[in-house]
Amino acid sequence: MTILITGGAGYIGSHCCVTFLDAGYDVVVLDNLSNSNTASLTRAEEISGRKLVFEQGDVRDQATVETLLKRHECTAVIHFAGLKAVGESTRYPLAYYDNNVIGTHRLLSAMANAGVRDLIFSSSATVYGEPQQLPLTEEHSLNPVNPYGRTKLIVEDMLRDLAASDPGWRIGILRYFNPVGAHASGLIGEDPLGVPNNLMPFITQVASGRREKLNVFGNDYETRDGTGVRDYIHVVDLVEGHLRAYHALSNLDGRDNCFAVNLGTGDGYSVLEMVKAFERASNRIISYDFVPRRAGDVAECFADTKKAQELLSWSAERELHNMCEDTWNWVCKNPKGYSD
Ligand code: NAD
Ligand code: WQD
Repeated sequence: MTILITGGAGYIGSHCCVTFLDAGYDVVVLDNLSNSNTASLTRAEEISGRKLVFEQGDVRDQATVETLLKRHECTAVIHFAGLKAVGESTRYPLAYYDNNVIGTHRLLSAMANAGVRDLIFSSSATVYGEPQQLPLTEEHSLNPVNPYGRTKLIVEDMLRDLAASDPGWRIGILRYFNPVGAHASGLIGEDPLGVPNNLMPFITQVASGRREKLNVFGNDYETRDGTGVRDYIHVVDLVEGHLRAYHALSNLDGRDNCFAVNLGTGDGYSVLEMVKAFERASNRIISYDFVPRRAGDVAECFADTKKAQELLSWSAERELHNMCEDTWNWVCKNPKGYSD
């Protein structure tokens, strides 16, 4: 069975390639390399000891997608390709609607024409917006507060409408919390361009000496130490959740052929707890300053994990120290990321 992985050269996609190759599937990657490098794919092949097929192209190019779905006789699609930076989405909303919404629409149209109707989609906990109660269950209201989150919700709605229109579709929507970490081999990991937006890559760059100190956005939240609390999940657990979700598609019937599931650990850690954990893993001091809150941030966000356990028979296994140790291993082996 051949799976098309869009955005497969990216951070999460490259780990997903390894998991699906290891599970015996053939993998075709479609990526426009706007935020990645083919080195991640060569490394994924090295880890798994198997070859994949790489097609450089854009999900918005419907004809290309349709041709490669047919040529490679793909049976399912895992759709990671898109833009993901919240701040950037407020400055360039049209680029986000184009890549994420129009891109997914073209991909779905190509899938419909090629007769491929099994899909796993990368959504985000950001679709919930400000938590009204914690932990966040899948039934929580959906009220994203930035353009990025709205593109994810529009795609989710499009997928629910599509599934309702035709029982032949089988769709899994996965709402990720905060993916961090790297493959234990240290061969693949997160390689952000420019100044990292997210906490873990920023901490990593302070530990490795690329940046002087971390700005901690707010120490006056109503949390145990005043800093923001999030549900960090190891990227390898996350992609194993995709494999389980893919298997779960075959248990869906025509009346209930689309699900949305949280992928998180259910545990929340504060910014200062992340700093301490990374100091232990790296044996380095992480200098930091407290600065005002970042606009749009919430105090706490963590997942209810029951539905994932029940529907996918999946729960995250790796702990915070694994997330930090594997990140540090990746950075030490690749101080300049894939450009080494
Ligand atoms: P990433 O940027 O590392 O990977 C995305 C990949 O898609 C890149 O390789 C990029 O080159 C490619 N791409 C972008 N637009 C494309 C297009 N139009 N056509 C073809 N390829 C295209 O990001 P990631 O962290 O691996 O995230 C993957 C997915 O997971 C995204 O959809 C993102 O929104 C979602 N997600 C990520 C996080 C996170 O914190 N990393 C959290 C929740 C959801
Ligand atoms: C985590 C905590 C910050 C950086 C974002 C997206 C979300 C999802 C995951 C894609 C917060 C604090 C951060 C720094 C800090 N992505 N922080 N200094 O905001 O939970 O989620 O990434 O779907 O949609 O919104 O993650 O890593 O940016 O922040 O103090 O330099 O770290 O305030 O409390 P966030 P993050």
